[in-house]
Amino acid sequence: MRNTTLAINGGAPTIDRSFPPYRTIGEAEERAAQRVLRSGVLSAFYGSIGDNFLGGPEVKRFEAAWAAHFQVRHAVSMNSATSGLIAAVQALGLGPGDEMIVPPFSMIASATAATINGATPVFVDIRPDIFTLDPAMVEAAITPRTKAIMVVNLFGQPADLDALIALARPRGIRVIEDNAQAPGALYHGRQAGTIADIGIFSLNCHKTIQTGEGGFACTNDDDLALRLQLIRNHGEAVVRELGYRNAPERITGYNFRLGEIEAAIGYEQLAKLDALTRPRQRLAAFFAERLAALPGLSVPKVETGRSHVYYVHALKLDSRRAGFSRRSLVRALGAEGLEAYEGYCKPLYLEPLFSNNARNHAGLCPVTERLHESELFFHPWLYEAIEPKAELIVRAFEKVWDNATALAALDDDGRRAVRRR
Ligand SMILES: Cc1ncc(COP(=O)(O)O)c(C=O)c1O
Repeated sequence: MRNTTLAINGGAPTIDRSFPPYRTIGEAEERAAQRVLRSGVLSAFYGSIGDNFLGGPEVKRFEAAWAAHFQVRHAVSMNSATSGLIAAVQALGLGPGDEMIVPPFSMIASATAATINGATPVFVDIRPDIFTLDPAMVEAAITPRTKAIMVVNLFGQPADLDALIALARPRGIRVIEDNAQAPGALYHGRQAGTIADIGIFSLNCHKTIQTGEGGFACTNDDDLALRLQLIRNHGEAVVRELGYRNAPERITGYNFRLGEIEAAIGYEQLAKLDALTRPRQRLAAFFAERLAALPGLSVPKVETGRSHVYYVHALKLDSRRAGFSRRSLVRALGAEGLEAYEGYCKPLYLEPLFSNNARNHAGLCPVTERLHESELFFHPWLYEAIEPKAELIVRAFEKVWDNATALAALDDDGRRAVRRR
C-alpha cells in the first residue's frame, strides 16, 4: 500500500497548500487598458449608419485578429456568448412555431437562446463518452418544425460536427456551434466554432482567455454576418437606410456591443490562447496515463481527428467497480486538498423554465441524467503553474483508491444516516 490514512479520516492531506487562483491578466493587458483609458473613448459604437455602426478601433482590431486566428471570414464581437447565441438564433430566422434541437447537458444559455426568440428548445440526449449530441438521437427527434440544431462542444472537445451537419443540410436545418468552452479545439484540422453556420465563443471570466465579459459570433456567410451586426446594435433602425435587400421581416436589435477596453484586453489575451491551452493538454495526457489504471475511473476520451482544450477535465466513475460512491470520492479528494465537483448542470429540461412543458419530464434523456446524478465529476484547471503539482494530484487519487474499503465504509455510514432520518 502506497498511502496511509485518508485525510477525511484524520490522516495528513496529500496536497497541503491550496492552489493559487488562475490569473492570465498581466502587464500587456494593463498597458492595453491604459491606452484606451488615456484615449477617453471607452466605446465608439453609433446606432446609425456610418463607419462606427461597427464599433471603434479596438473592437475592429480585435475582430480582425480573431478572424485571422480562427481562420473564419467574419468574427462579430459581442458582450457575451449568451448575446451571441441569442443573435445567432435570430439571424437564422427562428421564431414562434420553430423547434431547435439542443443537448440538455450544457449551460442554460444554449437553450434559452431559442426561448428568447419565441422558438422551442427540443432536448436530445448525448453520447456518454464525449458528452455531446448523439447524432442518431438527433435524427430521431427531427420534425417538420425543426429549424436549427444547437451543437455544444462541451468541456473543450468538438461534437460530431460532420454527422450533425450531414443530417441538417439536406433538410434545410441550420446548425449553430456553441463553442463557448472550446476555443482553439480542432476538428479534422479546422477550428471548432467555425464549422457550422454560426459559431459562438465566450470570453467570460472563467474561460481560458477572457475579457471579464465578452464573446464572439463567427460565420463564413456574408449575409449572416450582416444580420449579426445588425442584431448587435439596434439594427432595426438602420435596415432601411442600409438598403439591405435580404433583410428578414423583422430585425430586433439589442445592445450586445463589446467595449473598447474589453476589446483591447481581448487582443492581448488572444495572443496567449495557445500558450495557455498547451499545459492543459499536457496535464490531461499525463493524467490519462496515470489515472486510467484506477478501477472504475474513466479519463476524458478524445475522438480521432479532434483535439480537446480541456476547459473542464471531466472524469467518470463507475461506483460498482471502484467500490465507493461519487459523493464519497469528491469529499475524500477535497480533504486531500483537491477540489472536485459532482455532476455538471442539472439536465436543462428539469429547470422550471422548461419543465412546465409536458414533453420535458424526468427520464427524457437517461444518459444525461445518469452522468449528472452518479457518474461524472470534474476538477477545474483554474490553477496557475499547476504542472509541477501534477504528480501530487495523481497521488491524491491513488491514495483514495488505495483506501477504497475505508471509503466504502463512509458510504455505508451515509446510507445508515439517511435511513435513520
Ligand atoms: C456552453 C456554454 N454556452 C454559453 C455560455 C455563456 O457564456 P457567457 O457567460 O459568455 O454568456 C457558457 C458559459 O459558461 C457556456 O459554457
